[in-house]
Amino acid sequence: MKKLTFGTLMILTVAAAAPAAMAQDVAAGKTSFNKCLACHAIGEGAKNKVGPELNGINGRKSGTAPDYSYTDANKNSGITWDEATFKEYIKDPKAKIPGTKMAFAGIKNETEINNLWAYVSQFDKDGKVKQ
Ligand code: HEC
Repeated sequence: MKKLTFGTLMILTVAAAAPAAMAQDVAAGKTSFNKCLACHAIGEGAKNKVGPELNGINGRKSGTAPDYSYTDANKNSGITWDEATFKEYIKDPKAKIPGTKMAFAGIKNETEINNLWAYVSQFDKDGKVKQ
């Protein structure tokens, strides 16, 4: 009986913790995005700033935000942004795209990168949060 209770508790704990952890990831990612805000907008009505707006970044080809003047390095990188390419890029942008004009040293902390991706990837191309 004791064993069963423990096992049941474990399952309940894991099940209860998962949604809360995900919600927190997005919130933490929003805070992390403050590092990008000087140069990037995201969400409804986002405009290009020093850097391109980042709506719909999940699945977007590099260098394709309308009316933004990219470097050839960024435009010709051949990257389609997804979880893997974004995470690699944001660790060290100049290593992933040599010659980019994005003046950002990168984020090394894996948890922060995961949270950041949870935040940016939730916006569709119109800046609406995907359901
Ligand atoms: C100092 C300004 C600056 C900061 C800070 C900055 N970026 Fe950028 N970012 C740029 C510029 C400029 C470009 C365009 C690069 C080019 O054309 O070479 C860019 C490009 C990008 C791209 C490629 C977009 C595309 O359409 O191909 C992504 C993704 C990106 N930035 C994400 C981020 C994230 C996430 C952060 C915060 C962690 C961030 N950037 C911080 C200036 C910045």
